[in-house]
Amino acid sequence: MEQTLSIIKPDAVKKNVIGKIIDRFESAGLRIVAIKKIHLSECEAKAFYNVHKDRPFFNDLVKFMVSGSVVAMVLEGENAVMKNRDLMGATNPKEAKPGTIRADFAESIDANAVHGSDSLENAKIEIEFFFSKREIC
Ligand code: CMP
Repeated sequence: MEQTLSIIKPDAVKKNVIGKIIDRFESAGLRIVAIKKIHLSECEAKAFYNVHKDRPFFNDLVKFMVSGSVVAMVLEGENAVMKNRDLMGATNPKEAKPGTIRADFAESIDANAVHGSDSLENAKIEIEFFFSKREIC
């Protein structure tokens, strides 16, 4: 069993497709063991994406992530990190396989509907960023 962090980003929240995206996870056998809808502050978005702080897209990424509310979730299941990434599709929706979340709901590499942890190690760090132990059940 693994746990991974998923974020439904502001573009998908604005499109009112939270339920449709959650259905993809549940239909694939992942279980939501924690969930919250929040509006990140600029400081929080910068801290969450700190690993990208030197990339040219960092400022736009932060601006986008604070442009509306997001839904953060902990997904649990066998091979959850990779399963979630397969369900999401490529970072750039133009390269995402048909039937993936980003192919179906995302507009651009910036507004790409979802974020998912890229490794078990980062999943632990990202889960702890959003959730306390007692919020995960
Ligand atoms: P995400 O999985 O949330 O991780 C970092 C985000 O930066 C990524 O999704 C994209 O939305 C955004 N981004 C913008 N430009 C790029 C790029 N050239 N490479 C990777 N990520 C990018």
